[in-house]
Amino acid sequence: MPTDPNAFLYLFFEPIAPFLDDPDVSEIMINGPDRIYVERRGRIESTNACFCSENALRAAAMNVARSVGRMLGEENPILEARLPDGSRLEAVIPPLSRTGTVVSIRKFRKEKLTPAELVRFGSISEGGVRLIETIVRLHKNLVVSGATSSGKTSVLNVLSGIIDPGERILVIEDASELQLQQPHTVRFETRKPDKDGKGEVTIRDLLIAALRLRPDRLVIGEVRGGEALDLLEALNTGHAGSMSTIHANTPLDTLSRLETCTLLSGIDIPMPAVRAMVAGAIGVIIQTARLSDGSRKITHISEVLGLEEGVYKMQDIYVFRPEGLAPDGKVAGHHVFTGATPRFAEEARRLNLPEPWADERA
Ligand SMILES: Nc1ncnc2c1ncn2[C@@H]1O[C@H](COP(=O)(O)OP(=O)(O)OP(=O)(O)O)[C@@H](O)[C@H]1O
Ligand SMILES: [Mg+2]
Repeated sequence: MPTDPNAFLYLFFEPIAPFLDDPDVSEIMINGPDRIYVERRGRIESTNACFCSENALRAAAMNVARSVGRMLGEENPILEARLPDGSRLEAVIPPLSRTGTVVSIRKFRKEKLTPAELVRFGSISEGGVRLIETIVRLHKNLVVSGATSSGKTSVLNVLSGIIDPGERILVIEDASELQLQQPHTVRFETRKPDKDGKGEVTIRDLLIAALRLRPDRLVIGEVRGGEALDLLEALNTGHAGSMSTIHANTPLDTLSRLETCTLLSGIDIPMPAVRAMVAGAIGVIIQTARLSDGSRKITHISEVLGLEEGVYKMQDIYVFRPEGLAPDGKVAGHHVFTGATPRFAEEARRLNLPEPWADERA
């Protein structure tokens, strides 16, 4: 029998083993030895699990860190690590954390979410799936935007799954999360600096290398720094069909967030020029959100139309219209097409791609 690559986790984190095993639990949040929460099917629940003492919890966290070749201690009180099965672990120890050792584990889903599952969960409608198929096939540059844990990476996984297997795909991530199945996929992962602060390889370094490797598609796990500038330049000079995620709360915020990220490159470009780059580079924004009932939904699919007197012009093609709360606390509502015709409608027709905005007018 193959040994479980996460066996050490069960050994050191024995009190939370039932949650590690429970497929309905997606996140385990330890806020000190006896305050442990889990996210189960989108909802956060407190649990009775506990470690015997703060010392025991801290020792367990330090042992887990050591098992994945990392250090957690006085000198390195914050740890962001990936476990062998792909799960993500974040830990912070006192005195930085005020409630005792804090650990959060985002469990890796072995099966990636499929478009059919997203429809079944009410995250998108069938028409919405046809829309994203058309957008990906047309090589529109896409950004999936949303708050923390709103489902961005899961949506990016679905989008990247639509890419034609004949295309050369270059994937760049901080920690490998995406599960592309296409044969012609090349994957890169960043490297953190060593204990002397040397040897760091950033998303930006990898992006610059990737652009020289003749990508048909660039898939970037998350844009959060100066790489935004290189990406925008590349997209404006003909690298179509790229996709990425970004932390932002609305489609419009996404564009300003991209502007802010370009500032982090340290290269001074006047703001009107940055705006023109953003407007020229990004075709479509897919907004995700975690709603009050814990469900994750695509709330907007919006097209970036360009700049008008220095202001971004966008149109929503597809939105989730909430209709209040049902008695069981679930958010009621529908995904609808707004009636707007995307600029790429003609192109879609020429290529015989689905045109759900025309079939399903609101
Ligand atoms: N549509 C969905 N329905 C139900 N669960 C989902 C859905 N999308 C994502 N999830 C679950 O929600 C959790 C967070 O998803 P994901 O990692 O995609 O979010 P994220 O926005 O990329 O998070 P982060 O901000 O940490 O990068 C995961 O456990 C994932 O399996
Ligand atoms: Mg993510």
